[in-house]
Amino acid sequence: MQTALISLPLEQIETDALVVMAFEKQPEESAVSLAANWIAPLYESGDFKGKLLDTALIYKPAGLAALRLLAIGGGKRSGFNPHELRKAAGAAVRFLKSKGARRIVFALEGDFSSAEWVIAATEGAILGDYEADRYKTENQDEKKSVDLFQLAVAETSSVLENARRQGQILAEAQNFARDLVAEPANQMTPLMLAERARRMAEAEGLDCEILDRDRMQQLGMGALLGVAAGSAQPPALIIVRYRPEAAAGDVHLGLVGKGITFDTGGISIKPSDNMDKMKYDMSGGAAVLGAMMALARLKPPVPVTALVPAVENMPGGRAQRPGDIVKTLSGKTVEVLNTDAEGRLILADALTYARRLGCTHLVDVATLTGAIVVALGHVYIGAFSNDETFRQKLFEAARQAGEKIWHMPLDDEYKDALKSAFADLPNVGNRWGGAVTAAMFLKEFVESAPWVHLDIAGTAWLEENKPFMPKGPTGVAVRTLARLALTGLS
Ligand code: BES
Ligand code: ZN
Ligand code: ZN
Repeated sequence: MQTALISLPLEQIETDALVVMAFEKQPEESAVSLAANWIAPLYESGDFKGKLLDTALIYKPAGLAALRLLAIGGGKRSGFNPHELRKAAGAAVRFLKSKGARRIVFALEGDFSSAEWVIAATEGAILGDYEADRYKTENQDEKKSVDLFQLAVAETSSVLENARRQGQILAEAQNFARDLVAEPANQMTPLMLAERARRMAEAEGLDCEILDRDRMQQLGMGALLGVAAGSAQPPALIIVRYRPEAAAGDVHLGLVGKGITFDTGGISIKPSDNMDKMKYDMSGGAAVLGAMMALARLKPPVPVTALVPAVENMPGGRAQRPGDIVKTLSGKTVEVLNTDAEGRLILADALTYARRLGCTHLVDVATLTGAIVVALGHVYIGAFSNDETFRQKLFEAARQAGEKIWHMPLDDEYKDALKSAFADLPNVGNRWGGAVTAAMFLKEFVESAPWVHLDIAGTAWLEENKPFMPKGPTGVAVRTLARLALTGLS
């Protein structure tokens, strides 16, 4: 999808569909120049109330050059924010493309014409246009997507043009991550994920290195290799590097993403209900690769290294058993009490390796626990951190990105649950606070580096279609990670 800014009187805009925001109980304030003739009657009919994402479509509106006029509800004008605009733009795109519109102009009135609104609307449109339908062979040629999305603003400027470009880059990177997640596990083995990372890196001018099983054995990544043991698919440790032309400060950001291409649970096998969804257990890995794609284009002043341990977690004759003890790259030993708690095992070795590669600050992203879904549902990312300053920077990045995130506790009292009789650590705690004990486990491997752990098990997959997004992978965390690097971190 192409995006662009234009500045023209709305009546004169020739397009398949012109979209205007219309707010609750305030027809007179909605889309000012069009209000009297076209918008006010919608309210008068009683059919349209302007609630968030309400829609009303008018064909061949007399006096307008556009073929269709879509009023989209914005809810209460007073509380309207870029986050809601992102949804409104996405919903408008999804609604209109189902009608066959290929060119859309979305009118941003004066109050909503600053950079943050332009970014949000651009992102919303591109995210809303996404479909995970490449394996549907029927009606391939009828598949609908929007070719051109233009934002009509009061006045175009280089600031707004930059904002549009930033929104486009971030949303395209997020859709790249969604594409990786949407692939079924037979089409996204660890080596296939590594190949996709390599292709992306090459296209974007990033450095990419893949460590194979032999190399990981030499290095001593026993925890990662233990998880990989049950699968016929060899593991890969994907490393993608972004280096700025001139770095400001000594921060080196490490982004580590869980890349379990399929999680059966291993010998501690999962119930078969919903197991199909465990192809999304590489969403953290996809998110860091998406973020790298955005950074290659946006060029922040900090060096960033992404690490994705890519592994398939399978039962089988060679699989690790409950009770096995593995030696991690850090030298610490772990008793694998439950083979389904595999994410923390592969992340432990990847986090240690990130430190060895010189990363001073670490963020890991993982569909790590069912417990975070119990705690926060499908709305908020759960965030755990050992460093308040760094956590606040990440939260500010999430706020700018419009991604919801909740601060969860880390506390040494939880460590009581992480005692092993036979090794340094067990890989699971007791029944309680499962998302926290998982985070406490990871904390053992970041040493002194400021670190944030993002548990995205509840937010990486959308269970039902929304007006602004289809069911399936969400690409959550891509925008937050990219924005974190863009702050410069110094
Ligand atoms: N991949 C799962 C976590 C998960 C659950 C992601 C639901 C998405 C949706 C993870 O590897 C796992 O199985 N965790 C176990 C840990 C337990 C054995 C301590 C869990 O959460 O049940
Ligand atoms: Zn698991
Ligand atoms: Zn898992």
